[in-house]
Amino acid sequence: MTKKRVFSGIQPTGNTHLGNYLGAIRRWAAEQADKTNFFCVVDLHSLTVPQDPAQLRHETRSMAALLLACGIDPQQSTVFIQSHVTAHAEGCWLLNCITPLGWLQRMTQFKDKSARQESVLTGLLDYPVLMAGDILFYDADEVPVGEDQKQHVELTRDIAQRFNALYETEFFVIPQPVIAKVAARVMGLDDPTVKMSKSLADKRGHAVKLLDSPDEILYVFKRAVTDSGREIRFADDPDKAGVNNLLGIYQAVTGQDRAAVEADFASARGYGDLKVRVAEVVIEALRPIQARHAELMADSGELDHVLAAGAARAREVSQPKVDEMKQIMGLVPVHPTF
Ligand code: TYM
Repeated sequence: MTKKRVFSGIQPTGNTHLGNYLGAIRRWAAEQADKTNFFCVVDLHSLTVPQDPAQLRHETRSMAALLLACGIDPQQSTVFIQSHVTAHAEGCWLLNCITPLGWLQRMTQFKDKSARQESVLTGLLDYPVLMAGDILFYDADEVPVGEDQKQHVELTRDIAQRFNALYETEFFVIPQPVIAKVAARVMGLDDPTVKMSKSLADKRGHAVKLLDSPDEILYVFKRAVTDSGREIRFADDPDKAGVNNLLGIYQAVTGQDRAAVEADFASARGYGDLKVRVAEVVIEALRPIQARHAELMADSGELDHVLAAGAARAREVSQPKVDEMKQIMGLVPVHPTF
C-alpha cells in the first residue's frame, strides 16, 4: 500500500503557542510514521506583513529547531525552509494566473488581517495562493491544520480543480484538510471568544508560548478568564467558553477522553485548582521540548544539516512538478542539449 502524502506548514515567529502545538505540530509528529511527510517553515508567508530581517532570520531557524524538538523526525519527515526551494515562489506565479481575484478577496483571514493593517501588501492577498502551491507541488493527499486554515485548504482544492479543468488534466491531486477532533481551535486565555493567535500573543495573558518559562506559563493560566460558576465539566455554553478551553487543552495534552478529564477534576476546589492543574500538565509537556530546542540552537551543525537535506529532498519533488506545470501551460522548456 502506498503511503499517504502529507504537507503542512507553519510561519516562523517567536510567538509559536499552544494552539499551534496542539492543533498542528504535535499531530504532525504523532502521525508521521505511517505517512510520507513534508513540513515546511513558511518564511515567504511571513513576508506578507512587515518583518525585521535579523529577527525573521533568527525566528525561522528557531521554528525549524522547534519542529525537531517537538518530535518531528528527519528520518521520517522532510523538514525544510520554504525560501530554500524556489519552486514555491515560481509556481505561485503560475497559480496566480489561473486564480480569480474574487476568490482571494473572500478569504476571512485576509479580511481580518487587512482590516488591522494601515497599508495592505499585495502579498497578503496572495498568501493563500502561495499556500496552495506549497500543498499542490508535493501531490499532498492530506493537510493537517487547525480549524483556522480550513478555508485556505478548501481554496487550494478549488484552485487545483480549476487548473485540472482548464487544462483537461488530472495533474493536481485534490488534497483533504485534516482537522483535529480535540484542540482544533485553542482559544485565547484572556478572551475565550477569540482564537489564540500569534498576532495577539505579544499581549501578556493571551497565549502560552512554547518557549515560555514555567513561571510565565503558571502566571498566564492563573489569570485565564473563566466565569462566575464553579462546575468543571465540558459544556456547549458560550458562557462556559473559558472552562471549556482549559479542559480542551488538558484533554489534548493528556490524551484522555472527556469523561476521564471530568473525573480528574471531580474533587477539585473550584477554577483555581483547574487552572493550576492545566498549567502543570502543560509545563511538563513543554519541558523536554524546551530543553531539546536549546540544544539544537546552541549547536547549529545538526540543524543546518537537517535543513539542507530537507531542502534538497523537497526540491527533488516540487521542481519537476512545477516544470511540468509550465509545459502544460504553454511555456517553452529549456532545450535539453544546451
Ligand atoms: P500558522 O503559522 O498561523 O499556524 C500553524 C498551524 O497552527 C494552527 N493553529 C491553531 N490550531 C489550533 N488552535 C489555534 N488557536 C491555532 N492557531 C493556529 C494552524 O491552523 C496551522 O495548522 N498559512 C499557514 C501556514 C501554511 C500552510 C501551508 C499550512 C503555509 N503553507 C501549507 C498547511 C499547508 C499559517 O499561517 O499557519
